[in-house]
Amino acid sequence: MAQVTPPDIKSRKKDGPKITMLTAYDYSMAAMIDQSGVDIVLVGDSLGMVALGYDSTVPVTMDEMIHHSKAVSRAVKHAMVLGDMPFMSYQVTIEEAVRNAGRFIKEAGCHAVKLEGGVEQSNTIKAIVGAGIPVVGHIGLTPQTATALGGFKVQGKDIESAQKLLEDGKAVAEAGAFAVVIECVPSGIGKAVTESINIPTIGIGAGPHCDGQVLVTNDLLGMFEKFTPKFVKKYADLAPIIKKAFATYVEEVKNGDFPDEEHSFPGGEDLV
Ligand code: KIV
Repeated sequence: MAQVTPPDIKSRKKDGPKITMLTAYDYSMAAMIDQSGVDIVLVGDSLGMVALGYDSTVPVTMDEMIHHSKAVSRAVKHAMVLGDMPFMSYQVTIEEAVRNAGRFIKEAGCHAVKLEGGVEQSNTIKAIVGAGIPVVGHIGLTPQTATALGGFKVQGKDIESAQKLLEDGKAVAEAGAFAVVIECVPSGIGKAVTESINIPTIGIGAGPHCDGQVLVTNDLLGMFEKFTPKFVKKYADLAPIIKKAFATYVEEVKNGDFPDEEHSFPGGEDLV
């Protein structure tokens, strides 16, 4: 099966089927996701919260993103690998943004990058696309700047912010992005943005009308216990299963049930 490309994703706007995207931060999980037939594996800066234990995505560095993106790229054979540009890697100057976007492609083996922001990031998106790097936008609730938005809240709930979302979608599309993530907006706004632009929308808490959907894998698997946003559907509840396995291991080592004969190499007594 050929690797998924930006033109493949763009064509799904018209031809379907809906686009699927999941996050990954390490080799083993990325390999399983890729085998499931997902279109895009996002090395999200959610890495900071679900894998590195930060309280938000703000502290995540370029070096951390590159390290984890490399591991994911080694595993993925079919999906597109999308690197998420962390906070302050693209906001200071356009030159720095292009250089950092280039690191995801050259060093980490990603196929495209994602960055947060609409109208205000359109020149940066244009420059990165101009350098030959495919870009996915991210509008609505943008976690890197959640404080400025008043916290982790549903966006687009009044006329002014709904209009801003439409403008953001248009700006990102006109700047040359091949798709845009829309996070945490009412379904009607997700629908309106989707219908108003010619690139696919990939929703997370943006209702069923988007051209695709994305979820944080650890949320979908029930492996992140700190909090669960309303838009998350848990397709599995792995945390209790994993914890039970660890507890059983501890118990069996302590009481001598592990390792048993099946998990040991026989012999050796005559050699010493
Ligand atoms: O970092 C991330 O996982 C994301 C998704 C929530 C879209 O940006």
